[in-house]
Amino acid sequence: MDQSEPHTEAAELRERLEQWSYEYYVLDAPTVPDAEYDRCFRRLQDLEEEHAELRSEHSPTQRVGAEPLKQFASVEHAMPMLSLDNAFDEDEFASFVKRACDRLDVEEMPELIAEPKLDGIAVSLLFEAGLLVRAATRGDGNRGEDITANVKTISSVPLRLRGAGVPERIEVRGEIYMSREGFEAFNHRARMKGEKTFVNPRNAAAGSLRQLDSRITATRPLVFCAYSAGEHPEESWPDSHWSVLAEFKNWGIPISPHAARVASLDACHQYFDDIAKLRDSLAFDIDGIVYKVNEFSAQDRLGFVSRAPRWAIARKFPAQEAITRVQGVEFQVGRTGAITPVARLEPVFVGGVTVSNATLHNLDEIARLELRLRDSVIVRRAGDVIPQVVSVLADRRDENSPVIEVPTTCPVCPAPVERVSGEATLRCTAGLTCPAQLKGSVRHFASRRAMDIDGLGEKIIEQMVHQGLVRGLADLFSLTVDDLLPLERMGEKSATNLVSSIAASRETTFAKFIYALGIREVGEATAAALASEFVTLDNLRDASVEQLLAVPDVGPVVAEHVLQFFASDANLELLNALLDSGLTWPVTPSSDDDPGPLTGQTWVVTGRLEAMSRDEAEAKLQSLGARTAKSVSSKTSTVLAGPGAGSKLKRAEQLEVDVIDEPAFLALLEQLSQ
Ligand code: IVH
Repeated sequence: MDQSEPHTEAAELRERLEQWSYEYYVLDAPTVPDAEYDRCFRRLQDLEEEHAELRSEHSPTQRVGAEPLKQFASVEHAMPMLSLDNAFDEDEFASFVKRACDRLDVEEMPELIAEPKLDGIAVSLLFEAGLLVRAATRGDGNRGEDITANVKTISSVPLRLRGAGVPERIEVRGEIYMSREGFEAFNHRARMKGEKTFVNPRNAAAGSLRQLDSRITATRPLVFCAYSAGEHPEESWPDSHWSVLAEFKNWGIPISPHAARVASLDACHQYFDDIAKLRDSLAFDIDGIVYKVNEFSAQDRLGFVSRAPRWAIARKFPAQEAITRVQGVEFQVGRTGAITPVARLEPVFVGGVTVSNATLHNLDEIARLELRLRDSVIVRRAGDVIPQVVSVLADRRDENSPVIEVPTTCPVCPAPVERVSGEATLRCTAGLTCPAQLKGSVRHFASRRAMDIDGLGEKIIEQMVHQGLVRGLADLFSLTVDDLLPLERMGEKSATNLVSSIAASRETTFAKFIYALGIREVGEATAAALASEFVTLDNLRDASVEQLLAVPDVGPVVAEHVLQFFASDANLELLNALLDSGLTWPVTPSSDDDPGPLTGQTWVVTGRLEAMSRDEAEAKLQSLGARTAKSVSSKTSTVLAGPGAGSKLKRAEQLEVDVIDEPAFLALLEQLSQ
């Protein structure tokens, strides 16, 4: 690259970044690690910073948002943005096809294009000379709002079209939506901060686009997918919807990877069933399938009825939201004593299954919803996410509907509950003498990534605790075949197997043991960091807050939980009992005693790697003396980032921590092994 000419360099960087975005968002085939994208992005930012004349509103660097607007300007749509008629079953769909055939005076069904109906917000994007000049909402179909500044922050929206034959002026229509994961993460953060949550991803997308401050929109995980053209040139315009989609793709506009041509009623039904099966596993909400007559000549002959075309229809899926009534609220106790309110519902069919429970998360959520018993509520179930109560229909409330009593004692054991100030969570104070906490702890202790006790399932744990066979974690190790035989569905063979897998689990690692203890906020990575820092249980038990804080991955909250855990007499007794029952692990010398080339460094591995798994990369690093951590902090020396790296990479950049990609990492390993 000719770096002597900032102008040439900036142009080349933009071209590269646009190419990589295109490969990522349109072709769904990324070719470079995110770290490389980010490196070029930063270089371009620097160049634009240094040379004011290089700045351009269509540069990939302009996705961060701009100064807030006073209000949105109004935009008139050159062609109205229409809506779609719905078909709720096969018969209604067949009538649509029959009507179209009759009007076209044909026997055979014309070819249709089927696409998922994305559940987001319709937008219009206007490109002039290949540049995005205006983005607007649908509004009433004739007039919408100018949301250009907001839409420019969305990475999958091209700011500049590419490829051959881009029209001088072209309006692209499509949907902007939020992924379910993005929506859940947003709500989770909002709930933690006591801020307003969104009811569903669609409202979240709408709310994010309605921001007058585009810098806020820039932080929301929005996605764009095109589904038709609005204003377009008449000349040399394709003659079918399918060809328009193909052109869009060539021009760098993302389209649905699921769009398909269907040429018979059977093929339509098959497509509907196939996508319905995929629905739960998709990353985003869809509420049906849109079928459109493919040929524009046929579309023109069919025309419109009022606000909807006769050449398209939306066949709807079962709704992901439904109205039902709250019969009661139960409080469930988890392994750490956290008490979660769960609404018992009149069973209701939602998102394709019958739902009779929904989580209420915590007490703040009950207050936010202003929920009372017997209230009519909207329940949402989408994908694998547990059903949630999203809102209360207050106008349908019975008079004198009972308020929800917050328990003052644990619903499982009689211990008092506590609510730490500033926290929304209610907790049982009994520790492992509470059967619910004990069951949860045994489940966690036995889980694969902890002590890995094969064959110790939910039902068995339930009985063991219920019958008093297990009153503490250490009791597991004194269980005999005779103890187990009386349990339901427990034969000689499974009892023997279970006893031997419990025995086998005695040999573990220090890291797994720490994780198995279930100290609050101490996940696998933190447990591993504590194990490699402290090496022995005595050291860990006696660690001061300063020593704990020096460990990668450990912040003040974790440090406090670790200190509290070891300050409890009951926990110290538990540790002694576990050690007395023969638990052992090899003592690995700390890396300080046995220096490797990376001793003293802390690494974080993130994103996808090709030559090895992340675990393998971490093992390699540890064998060279490095510590590995799961989160980036100022203590991190280097981040190894593969494609798909997200927040950790961002954090590394904020903290100006070194980032290397996989090829550079492999080169380093090579160099160190010489
Ligand atoms: S075509 C005249 N295709 O559904 C036809 N719409 O109920 C215009 N939608 O406002 C729409 N996915 O927001 C079309 N693949 C798709 C769609 C889709 C979602 C939305 C769109 C429209 C609404 C109509």
